[in-house]
Amino acid sequence: MADSKRDIHNPILFECAWEVANKVGGIYTVIKTKVPVTVSEFGDRYTLIGPLSYKTAPMEVEAEEPKDPHVAATIESMRAQGVKILYGRWLIEGNPQVLLFDTASVTSKLDEWKADLWNLAGIPSPPNDQETNDTIILGYLAAWFLGDYVSRQLKTAVIAHFHEWQAGLAIPLCRKRHIDVTTVFTTHATLLGRYLCAGSVDFYNNLQYFDVDHEAGKRGIYHRYCIERSAAHCADVFTTVSHITAYESEHLLKRKPDGVLPNGLNVVKFQAMHEFQNLHAQSKAKINEFIRGHFYGSYDFDLENTLYMFTAGRYEYRNKGVDMFIEALARLNYRLQKAGSTVTVVAFIIMPAATHSYTVEALKGQAVTKQLRDTVTEIQNRVGARLFDHAARFHGEQKAVPTPDELLSEEDKVLLKRRIFALKRNSLPPVVTHNMADDANDPILNQIRRVKLFNHNHDRVKVVFHPDFLNSNNPILGLDYEEFVRGCHLGVFPSYYEPWGYTPAECTVMGVPSITTNLSGFGCFMQDLIERPEEEGCYIIDRRMQSVEDSVNNLSANMFEFTQKTRRQRINQRNRVERLSPLLDWKNLGIEYSKARQLALRRAYPDAFYGEEDHDGFADDYFGGGVERMKSTNSMPASPRLKGYATPGDIGTLTEDMQALDTGDYRGVNWKDHVRSRSGSVIS
Ligand code: UDP
Ligand code: G6P
Ligand code: GLC
Repeated sequence: MADSKRDIHNPILFECAWEVANKVGGIYTVIKTKVPVTVSEFGDRYTLIGPLSYKTAPMEVEAEEPKDPHVAATIESMRAQGVKILYGRWLIEGNPQVLLFDTASVTSKLDEWKADLWNLAGIPSPPNDQETNDTIILGYLAAWFLGDYVSRQLKTAVIAHFHEWQAGLAIPLCRKRHIDVTTVFTTHATLLGRYLCAGSVDFYNNLQYFDVDHEAGKRGIYHRYCIERSAAHCADVFTTVSHITAYESEHLLKRKPDGVLPNGLNVVKFQAMHEFQNLHAQSKAKINEFIRGHFYGSYDFDLENTLYMFTAGRYEYRNKGVDMFIEALARLNYRLQKAGSTVTVVAFIIMPAATHSYTVEALKGQAVTKQLRDTVTEIQNRVGARLFDHAARFHGEQKAVPTPDELLSEEDKVLLKRRIFALKRNSLPPVVTHNMADDANDPILNQIRRVKLFNHNHDRVKVVFHPDFLNSNNPILGLDYEEFVRGCHLGVFPSYYEPWGYTPAECTVMGVPSITTNLSGFGCFMQDLIERPEEEGCYIIDRRMQSVEDSVNNLSANMFEFTQKTRRQRINQRNRVERLSPLLDWKNLGIEYSKARQLALRRAYPDAFYGEEDHDGFADDYFGGGVERMKSTNSMPASPRLKGYATPGDIGTLTEDMQALDTGDYRGVNWKDHVRSRSGSVIS
């Protein structure tokens, strides 16, 4: 590789993830929203690589012939050997090139590759772990593609960026096979971290002490852990999404990340504030519709005085802090009742679980209110016609203005009564909208049962658990996720394990206040940047330095205070929140990715950089003094008081020196003090 004469100025970039054109969770959001800034830097030198999902790809990707003849040749040669490939454009903003491999088309090679993996890297792969099998196939296909491609295209440097362990296996393969590419690995969590936190471990106080191999073995994920760890170690540059996960990676993956690449969003700015406020009102009206149906028979509260709170994400009960959310809701209910409040809070939990479709009750609620509405519209039309006819006929006479009885016929009254009778019900409005596959053991339902939030009329806090992601085609709650978030008043994400946490970040750019914790990457990021985040509508609960009991109380106190706000205060707060969105814009954060790529090139091709610094300033762009950073100050909102860092771009720490730093130097995470204060004695 040292002899390589590849041009490092206009490199080719391949970015590989399991969630390319394949939505699972937050990594899809990273990849998709980052495309516009990456395309603006690389144009057609950028291609995304992922698995071919026949369920989603036909809707997301338009087939096209590759422009790069070497890519075309490589694809042709792989196809000739039986690999099914979809190459084309991903139909999202930025229109990037995508290369999708059908992993099922090469299952015949799986055993051979598993044996090779064992011989090459000593990584075992037990049978019947579908996720690992897919990972192995995608890894071998990606490495095959890259190896073949760089054997044809010899002029330009190639950067291969991989996300998460499921796409990372190609990295050790590239290294072992001496494929002439430079690699970046970004982890969005660690496997062990996720598993350990989902149990009942005091994770953050024990990070340094876990016997990682043993813990992975105990959980049956040793082979997966090996893949993740080898990706982290073999990559030229290793990064993650937050400082808290950098610290975790150092201890669980045993390599300190070279830097942090915070997750951004593709922020669309409105011309005027009132535009996004109007969107809130429109979306809220749709949620109101759902509520009228869902609570039929018990709908005795004023929607003008009702607040919508929600939590959402993949179903990770403890990691996502749903346990804490429900407990805090119960306390909020109690406080509101005690205070004699007239406010109603409807708390939504949007988390996919195994279900057998909607419950009859949930569908019926929407049906009976729809029938009522249709009947009212019919009667309204008839009343209108009678009113018109009457006024036209008797215009000169005193009876030109009809009495109500003349307008509403007996037939209309009977029809209306029948619809009203249909609204009676003997049961309470359901907590869950779907038939759960395992109702009796569902942790969310059990917690709701424990705290008795059953949607009684006297409850000020009502709960709606929608165990599926939202979609505008759903028969109930038919809104897209974005629309739903806009219509809500407060997002609540009290996570215990959350490397980043897009859900509160998305709230922020949509101008919806949110609550998160200082154990989420996003929460720490905002805390690092903003003087008093809570004043900006970005509440951060301390789950690090205080007991669980105190955190729950803190959370419910924050929610209670929120219910005390006037409409005007809520509108003002939404405006303030929305003004934070430049902090989360890829236009500002994308530079951290550029830095990671530059570092990867420097590490793989150090000679190519020799003497570069002075004549074109290229190397100085990212490291050293003359940094071309985000031109921030005039685009930053005036109001939020930012801490000392010049720009959000500065919050990432990707530097050549990070390796030399001490563990205690992670931004915003004073881990040494943390350990001291929790345990009462100095551990380190
Ligand atoms: N999300 C969605 N539909 C829903 C609920 C959530 O598309 O009904 C998306 C949400 O927009 C976010 C992602 O799921 O981008 C969750 O990402 P996050 O980083 O919060 O958590 P992860 O699932 O990756 O742990
Ligand atoms: C937006 C709309 C207003 C509406 C308000 C309701 O700001 O522009 O017309 O009154 O939302 O706010 P609320 O917090 O009560 O849902
Ligand atoms: C992971 C993490 C989540 C993060 C996402 C994108 O799925 O669980 O916290 O936001 O990746 O980085």
